[in-house]
Amino acid sequence: MNAPSRAPVPATGASRAPLVDPFRRAITYLRVSVTDRCDFRCVYCMSENMAFLPKQDLLTLEELDRLCSAFVARGVRKLRLTGGEPLVRRDIMVLFRSLARHLKTGALDELNVTTNGSQLPRYAEELAACGVKRINVSLDTLDPARFRDITRWGDLAKVLAGIDAAQGAGLHVKINAVALKGVNEEEIPSLMEWAHGRGMDLSLIEVMPLGDIEPARIDQYLPLSLVRSRLAPRYTLEDIDYKSGGPASCVRVAETGGRLGFITPLTHNFCEGCNRVRVTCTGTLYMCLGQDDAADLRAPLRASEADDLLHAAIEEAIARKPKGHDFVIDRRTNRPAVARHMSVTGG
Ligand code: GTP
Ligand code: 5AD
Ligand code: SF4
Repeated sequence: MNAPSRAPVPATGASRAPLVDPFRRAITYLRVSVTDRCDFRCVYCMSENMAFLPKQDLLTLEELDRLCSAFVARGVRKLRLTGGEPLVRRDIMVLFRSLARHLKTGALDELNVTTNGSQLPRYAEELAACGVKRINVSLDTLDPARFRDITRWGDLAKVLAGIDAAQGAGLHVKINAVALKGVNEEEIPSLMEWAHGRGMDLSLIEVMPLGDIEPARIDQYLPLSLVRSRLAPRYTLEDIDYKSGGPASCVRVAETGGRLGFITPLTHNFCEGCNRVRVTCTGTLYMCLGQDDAADLRAPLRASEADDLLHAAIEEAIARKPKGHDFVIDRRTNRPAVARHMSVTGG
């Protein structure tokens, strides 16, 4: 977030106006959820029995490419593929390879991925070869049993092998950890020391009330203000201006030399600097992670081979991008802010 907006380079030769929302925020970052499926079932993300989208509703990889490219033509400089778990989508490397052309032309600054890491042993080299430089790996604990409890289905050893493979391929890895009350809160210092010891940034995330899950959100929610105040006596946390383009506010930890980010949708809203929108694997555009309003881009995409209808639909949607989210987690508010799970919109 707060990434400086720049003049876009039209990707198609057609000169199209950059996307600016009603609050004068330039939309320069697109997150694309390429599948709602995942090989894990994290307790804060999914319920145990999830109903997934029928495969016939999904955009093809060619359609996803067309959609992303339309946004690039409108000034998006950073693309992130998410999920579910993006690397479980069949032939996903076809999409990465094709999108990489926008890096070569200079239309795009970054092509990134947020992953649970399980498929990285297989794909790390190919991602690097496509021009991916930075990847975000979700990992909340280094304890194998706790990892299994959190992810329900995950295998820590596979994820750690994935991180090795990513670093071996020269990718810059950032670890994302959701701070969970009574689960990994004691482990945050050691997780940080481990990440920093391996040259990786760590971002901590407050759990958000997205979708119905079995545990009560209030039992999961750990405010990062509390985490920070517990770290402060042990570590020297120096505020720094660093912005990755995401919503984290960052500190440098003097003792480790590493960067620690706090993503605080509950305790400190960061929406005023929002530069992003999200598209799901069915071509639904969500203008905000925490609101229900959405626009269908699949129909205009399929209605004609030219992109005019698609661009008109995108413009209309951006014109109603809301100011921000208003998440609440407390004893009285026992329902999600939005019905869809994080695995649909991809964080
Ligand atoms: P970089 O800073 O580019 O590394 O990426 P990022 O932090 O935007 O991406 P990442 O996928 O690591 O996002 C981390 C988490 O931040 C997401 O999974 C969400 O939980 C949260 N997040 C990202 N963007 C938003 C946003 O617009 N609103 C809210 N409420 N949370 C967000
Ligand atoms: N609140 C906060 N973060 C979540 N994630 C998944 N569900 C939630 C939630 N309800 C995180 C994952 C991953 C990223 C894609 O989103 O841990 O880091
Ligand atoms: Fe899968 Fe990521 Fe959700 Fe975990 S948080 S279930 S890894 S999509």
